[in-house]
Amino acid sequence: MESLRREAPNPSRQIPPPRLEVSGLRRAFGGRDVVADLTLTIAAGQVTCLLGPSGCGKSTTLRMIAGVEHPDGGTIRIDGQVMSDGSGRFLPPESRGVGLMFQDFALFPHLTVAQNVAFGLGGDRAARDRRVGELLERINLVGYGAKYPHELSGGEQQRVALARALAPRPRVMLMDEPFSGLDNRLRDGIRDTTLEVLKEEGTAVLLVTHEPDEALRMADEIALMRDGLIVQRGSPYNIYNAPADRAAAAFFSDINVIRGISKGALTETPFGSFLTPGHADGGAVEIVIRPQHLKIDFDRGGRGPNPTPQDGTPARGTVTRARYLGRESLVDFRMDFDGSILTASVPGVFMPRPGTVLWLMMRRDRCFVFAA
Ligand SMILES: Nc1ncnc2c1ncn2[C@@H]1O[C@H](COP(=O)(O)OP(=O)(O)OP(=O)(O)O)[C@@H](O)[C@H]1O
Ligand SMILES: [Mg+2]
Repeated sequence: MESLRREAPNPSRQIPPPRLEVSGLRRAFGGRDVVADLTLTIAAGQVTCLLGPSGCGKSTTLRMIAGVEHPDGGTIRIDGQVMSDGSGRFLPPESRGVGLMFQDFALFPHLTVAQNVAFGLGGDRAARDRRVGELLERINLVGYGAKYPHELSGGEQQRVALARALAPRPRVMLMDEPFSGLDNRLRDGIRDTTLEVLKEEGTAVLLVTHEPDEALRMADEIALMRDGLIVQRGSPYNIYNAPADRAAAAFFSDINVIRGISKGALTETPFGSFLTPGHADGGAVEIVIRPQHLKIDFDRGGRGPNPTPQDGTPARGTVTRARYLGRESLVDFRMDFDGSILTASVPGVFMPRPGTVLWLMMRRDRCFVFAA
């Protein structure tokens, strides 16, 4: 997306300057770097998901940007204005123009919906009422203004919390796992509404999550975080299809790892020789492929499939296990070539018995090669 924009500049759709700029952000607890050297920019109207496993430093990052946690170093700017830097400059949370939303978003129980939304608003009464009305319309809760939180469903409460956070028109919206308290079926709808409202408001959004599906669904850009560092940044498409390393690939789905030794830029696999240029002669490599990119075909009396050039060489294996997961089936194979186990996924129901001999083909264009 970014490179497309660069190649075909369109004056009517210029990229705004970064709303949030974070550089070299650091925080240690008990001598351990929890956020090591974090750099990030987010434009107005852009949603960036900070995605990573539990404990990698996501919430700590968010809290420093919000101003409720003091960084040990690094600079945070909003619209070019310094919020905090290494030299001790530090703006308190209420002066930053930042909205916050967390999993336990607790509305004020003794205030009505309208009073909750108006809570952080200054200005005259008429202006406040106008803003509240506008936001209730956005979140599809027109007519709910006089109700109390306990009269609302979980999803409705969540939308009110969103409206309350957005009411003062924050320049940056910081969200920490805001949907994790909602049940699955409710979540998708709320995510979409939230995204729509945030885009309309033109807020820069930093959304923390440890769920890859949520990041893929919500983000313009994903910042993949591990051990206090951003290991990769990119569009959902790029992060999924060009992972920086094996762990980045594994974060989004189950993966198969075919291990081998690169010799003369070739590595032997169950699927024949695989091109591994740029890897040292005698160096160990890992060829990573997601289960949905292994194609299953039938044995046909031992003759196997008739592959296209893209499929490459087929390899024979014996089914060891088949599982039905609803949308797809996962089938494990023990490969004739070396006894290794590979897993293929097929849409729908496919439940071959253990012991069944089948063939696999590997989408070579969908493989990722990493030095082991
Ligand atoms: N106030 C604190 N004092 C000491 N250690 C802390 C403090 N806050 C966070 N940590 C530690 O810093 C690390 C990162 O915590 P953080 O809450 O940022 O992780 P996270 O990525 O948000 O994880 P999760 O997905 O589980 O919410 C953890 O190991 C945590 O124990
Ligand atoms: Mg957290």
